[in-house]
Order: sequence, then structure tokens, then C-alpha cells
Amino acid sequence: MDNILELLEELKKTHYIDRDGIVKLLSYDRPEVIFSAADEIRKKYVGNDVHLRGLIEFSNYCCRSCFYCGLRAMNRSVQRYRLSEEEILNAAKIAAGHNLKTIVLQGGEDKFFSVSELCRIVEKIKNLDVAITLSIGELPRESYAELKRAGADRYLLRIETSSRDLYEGLHPGMSFENRVNCLYNLKDLGFETGTGSLVGLPGQTPEILAEDLLFFKKLDADMIGIGPFIPCPGTPLENEKAGKVEMVLKMLSLTRLILPDINMPATTALAVSDTCGHSKGLSVGANVIMPNVGNIEYKKLYKIYPKDNALELTLKDQLSNIEKILKQQQRTLGKSYGYRKKSSMQTI
Ligand code: 5AD
Repeated sequence: MDNILELLEELKKTHYIDRDGIVKLLSYDRPEVIFSAADEIRKKYVGNDVHLRGLIEFSNYCCRSCFYCGLRAMNRSVQRYRLSEEEILNAAKIAAGHNLKTIVLQGGEDKFFSVSELCRIVEKIKNLDVAITLSIGELPRESYAELKRAGADRYLLRIETSSRDLYEGLHPGMSFENRVNCLYNLKDLGFETGTGSLVGLPGQTPEILAEDLLFFKKLDADMIGIGPFIPCPGTPLENEKAGKVEMVLKMLSLTRLILPDINMPATTALAVSDTCGHSKGLSVGANVIMPNVGNIEYKKLYKIYPKDNALELTLKDQLSNIEKILKQQQRTLGKSYGYRKKSSMQTI
């Protein structure tokens, strides 16, 4: 046991740990010690501010067939929608009007929108004096470069799992190598780059989760999103077991310890799996929440995993719930764009 506590002390100091060490910590039966270490490091490196990112889910069309995702192309039971340019801009204005300093445009891999159209939307949203994060999947390097030139600041593309075999088994027609290349292209082009993984995928082992963390570190990711796998009807994994909240919390806390200055959300999937998910995430290293700014009718259709419609709140209600959590945890609302490093403010 002492051995494990020594390992944790070392991790707190050096932010380095090897695969075996991570596996040991992941199976440690007193995770509270890891959680509080992560909370301490979060406070030391990124302070008490919680940054809000306004999420616009602008299309649920997708050409991919990821085994876990409800929006997979082959799921015919989904009613598809896409927002018009005007609707996207209106949602962005509402978010900016609520003082959200980052807009996240997320969608399925919908080939309807051309890169030049997306660039035009990015340029218009930038006029609202916000940072822009894109989360629209795999694109050629040149398209990423165009979007960067148009003013996009950040990009989210989860590796989903760092195991090549598991990745390729869950993503028919996709290659692990291309996923990794996309992430390195994004970094190289100057995007603040976010990645992350699903916890509890069938076939996932503690060793694979440990490799996920080492992958985040190697990439030097700027943002990490981690959530539990939630089985979704209409997908090949509909009858599998859900990922465990506690394992997600362990992964979040170890991520904070390994990459102390990154931005890390308490994810929506965590909040869907546990009514206190946001609060628990924030207490083990997370410093970001992503309220949804879309129209409620569209939100109901953005079913990457099942969620209770009763939980679909207006932006105002989401923000007042978040405020309560921040108060309880003596955390403050971030008022800046919330970049990873102060120096990258120059990109705005
Ligand atoms: N359960 C949990 N998370 C999921 N995602 C997709 N489907 C599911 C699911 N069934 C996550 C993926 C994706 C992100 C937008 O949503 O990790 O990157």
C-alpha cells in the first residue's frame, strides 16, 4: 500500500508515471486519495475558475458507423436534423449573450456542410468576440488548415480508445492511424487540441485505459474529455454493460495529475450516468462544463446515447444549476476565453 502512496506522491511532483503504475492506481481500492491529489493539483495549476463552453449540436447526420454511437449512419430510427447557418448563428448569439466565451460547434460527420461554408460560419461567430472550438470529426489536413485560418481556435477529436485493435473493431471503415494523424495535424496547425476516451467499452482492460493516459501525455493534449460508455438502443452494443462512474472519476483524476494545466470538462455523459456527475467531475480535477445552447427539440434528437428528456433544461436553467454547483464547491466562473496557457490568448 505504501508503495502506491509513494507512486502517487511521485506523480504529484513529476506528472510522470509508467503504465504499470497507472494500472496499480486504477485498481487501488481507496480512490479518494487519488481524487484529492487531483483536486489539489487542479487548484495549483488552473485555479478555481470553471470555464463554460456553449455547445451547439448543429447536425445529427453522420456518415460513420461507430458501434457505440446512436447517430451511426445505419441507425434508421433516428430522426435527422441539421441547423441552417442562420440557426447556428442565432444559437451562438444567445450563448454570447449569456457571457459564454467559447462556442463549440459539434456535429456528426455530415458531408452536407462544405469546408468553405463552415469557414464562413466560423468567421461570423468570431465577430461575437468568443473562442471557437470545432468537433466535426476527421478531415484532410488542408481542411483543418482552412478552418484555422478562418479563426477556429480549438478542435476536439477523441481517440476514443488507444488500442488499435479495439479502435478498429468499433469503427468499421476507419483507421487508427488516420485518427492519430488527424490529432497530430491539428496540433501542428496550432489548434488547441482536445482528445479523450470512453470508459467501459466492451473488451477494454485497465492496461488499455493506462495506454489512453500515456497517449494523452505523448500528444500533449490541451483538453481531455472522458466519459462512461452508455449503451445505446439501435447500435451493435445496445446490450452491453455501461461504463462505471467510479472508473471515469479515476481516469479524470489521473489525467489531471499527468497533464496538470490542461482544460478538462466534467462531461455530459458523466452527468447523464450520475445525477451528481458534474459535481463529482469538478471535484476530481475537471475545470470545464459544456452547457448545451441548442433548441430543446433538436437536443432531443442528438441521441449519441439515451438520455432522459426530462433532463433537457433550458440554457438559463442549466446555468443556474451550474452556479449552484460552483457555489457548493467554492469555485468561480471563468470570465476569460479559458485557453490552456495565457500566452495562447494571442491567437484571438
Ligand atoms: N456513450 C458515451 N459516449 C458516447 N459517445 C458517442 N457515443 C457514446 C455512447 N454511447 C461520445 C464519443 C464521441 C463523443 C462526441 O460522444 O466519445 O467522441
